[in-house]
Amino acid sequence: MRTEFIAGNWKMFNGPASTVEFFMKFQNELDNACGVKEAAANGEEEIVFFVPAISLTAAVITAGKMPVSFGAQNVHWEEKGAFTGEISVPMLQEARAKYVIIGHSERRHIFHETDGELNKKITAAINGGLTVVFCVGELLEEREAGTARDVIKRQFNAGLDGIDAAALKQVIIAYEPVWAIGTGKTASAEDAEEICAFIRSLVRDKYGAEASEAIRVLYGGSVKPENTSEIMACENIDGVLVGGASLKPESFIKIAENAIAKPQKNG
Ligand code: PGA
Repeated sequence: MRTEFIAGNWKMFNGPASTVEFFMKFQNELDNACGVKEAAANGEEEIVFFVPAISLTAAVITAGKMPVSFGAQNVHWEEKGAFTGEISVPMLQEARAKYVIIGHSERRHIFHETDGELNKKITAAINGGLTVVFCVGELLEEREAGTARDVIKRQFNAGLDGIDAAALKQVIIAYEPVWAIGTGKTASAEDAEEICAFIRSLVRDKYGAEASEAIRVLYGGSVKPENTSEIMACENIDGVLVGGASLKPESFIKIAENAIAKPQKNG
């Protein structure tokens, strides 16, 4: 069984003080949530917050013993040096991050990170002991042109170049169609499932059946409490990467609840 991965990507929201405030409220939500603590304790569900790097320490300290983990939204591939403004893998480790998002569409399209740079980041993060949430996804025009699969295959192959099956155990793949991010337009469960199944088939072709059964594939793009169950019921979707709806403790906990209470998995 693949552990469900319910992740909040805070993007550029919440400095240290608002992070403390968030987790004080989140504690309350967690105490009253239906089945979330139990699911976290028995390995059914994992809850992870990708907070701004500056807020990691505040998050880790305030969350204390809550059954949640933390990650960063970006990392540089060098360990240290004259790279003004950058943050390294060892620094994230020191701040007790376990995960890092690499290849988010905002990094690809606003900050023009290339497939080659993302590959260096993925390699460094894995070598440094972090688990990577590697994002792939097509633009609206690529979907309309019928090239979504080609784009995802290119991103997959380039991002994971040189990553072997052992290293792949530290990779989670998130399918995030760019047109569904922050737009309120969710991909239909069928479309999301189709591409997530395709991603699993890419893993099978490159790494074999065992790796493709084990890898977790997430969907992200306008996930909210109302559409979580339908998405999580898809056979090839093991979790969600949530932007906007992760900023409110009450909506994020509802997503975590609805993910557990989903109907039977179907294809
Ligand atoms: P959204 O963002 O949920 O606000 O669409 C998702 C993401 O960017 O990971």
